[in-house]
Amino acid sequence: MSLQSIKYVQGKLEILDQLLLPLNSKYIDVKGVEDGWKVINRMQVRGAPAIAIVGCLSLAVELYNENFDSKKTMRQEIEGKLNYLVSARPTAVNMKIAADELINLANELTKDENCSVNEMKSKFLETTEAMLEKDISDNKAIGKFGAEAILQSYGKDSPVKVLTHCNTGSLATAGYGTALGVVRKLKEMGKLEHVFCTETRPYNQGARLTAFELVHDKLPATLIVDSMVAALMRSKNIAAVVVGADRVAANGDTANKIGTYQIAVVAKHHNIPFYVAAPLTSIDINIANGDCIIIEERPDREMTHVGEHRIAAPGIKCWNPAFDVTPASLIKGIITEHGVFSPHNLAENVKNLQNV
Ligand code: MRU
Repeated sequence: MSLQSIKYVQGKLEILDQLLLPLNSKYIDVKGVEDGWKVINRMQVRGAPAIAIVGCLSLAVELYNENFDSKKTMRQEIEGKLNYLVSARPTAVNMKIAADELINLANELTKDENCSVNEMKSKFLETTEAMLEKDISDNKAIGKFGAEAILQSYGKDSPVKVLTHCNTGSLATAGYGTALGVVRKLKEMGKLEHVFCTETRPYNQGARLTAFELVHDKLPATLIVDSMVAALMRSKNIAAVVVGADRVAANGDTANKIGTYQIAVVAKHHNIPFYVAAPLTSIDINIANGDCIIIEERPDREMTHVGEHRIAAPGIKCWNPAFDVTPASLIKGIITEHGVFSPHNLAENVKNLQNV
C-alpha cells in the first residue's frame, strides 16, 4: 500500500508530519483552521493538491464541531476562513481555486430558500470530503495519460528511464500522485526501467520525500543531486522528464519547485520531452502568463544549514525562491486528468472543460 499523507473521518483530520520524514512517521491532529494554516505554512504538509485538501478539510473539521443559528453566519465564517487559508502559502493555486468554489457553493446555499442550516452544513461537508476521492481518481487518470504520452513519444517498445523533480507523489496529494503517478503507471504497465529523482535543494523534497516513497513502493529508483541533471541526460538515455506544478498560467508557463526551469532548459538541449503533470485544480487560466505568478521566498536558513549544522560561510547573503517558472516553449505537454494538452491550446481546452 502506498503512503497516506492525509487521514480523515468526519470531525477528525490527521496529517503525516513531513518535517519528520524520512526518519520518523508521525501523524499530527489538525483540529481546525488555525492548525490547518500552521501545518501548511510550516510545510508539515506540502505539495499543491495536498495543501488545498488539508486546508479545506481543516475547515470541515471545524464546521462539523460547530452549531450555527443562521446560514448567513455560516457563510461568513466559510468565506473568512477559506480566504485566511489561501494566505498560508502564495504560489500554488489549488487552495485558491478550491476556496473560490466552496465560497460560491456557500453563497448559492445561503440564497436557496429550500435549504436549511443543517442541510447547508451537510452539503458543505460532503463537497469538501469529495475532494479526497476525486484527487486520487484524477491522479490515476493523469498517470494513464502521462504514461501513454511518454511511451508514444519514446517510440520504442522497451521500458523507459525517466527523471522527476521535487515530490509529487502520495505525500503531495490525496494518494497515487501526479508526476509520480505517471511513474507509478509506467511501472504498473511493465514499462518503467528506472526513475531518477533529484535531491531538490535546498528543501530536499526529492531526497527526503520522493526517495522515501520510491523505496517504500519498491520502484527502481536512483537519487541524484540537482547539478547532475545534464550529465544524467547525456549518459543515461532518459526518455522523458515529468514534473508537477504549483500554478500553470493560461499560456502554459508553469511555476513549480525551484530547479524545474533549469531541468527544462537542459532537457531541450538534449532533445528530451519535458512534461508537466497537473490536475485542472493547478491551472490558473485567469492569469495570462508566468510573470503574474507570485513566487514564495523562504528563509536563508534553509540554504545555510543542514539540520542544526551550518554549511554556508557566516555573513553571506542568500536568495531563496521556493519556485521558478518554466516557459511554455520548453514544455511538450501538460498532462491533466482529461488528457495531454499542448501549452498552446491549454486555456481553450480548460475553458471548454469548465463549461461542460
Ligand atoms: O514547496 P512544496 O514542497 O510545496 O513544493 C511542491 C512542488 O513544487 C510540487 O512539484 C507541486 O506542488 C506539485 S505536487 C503534486
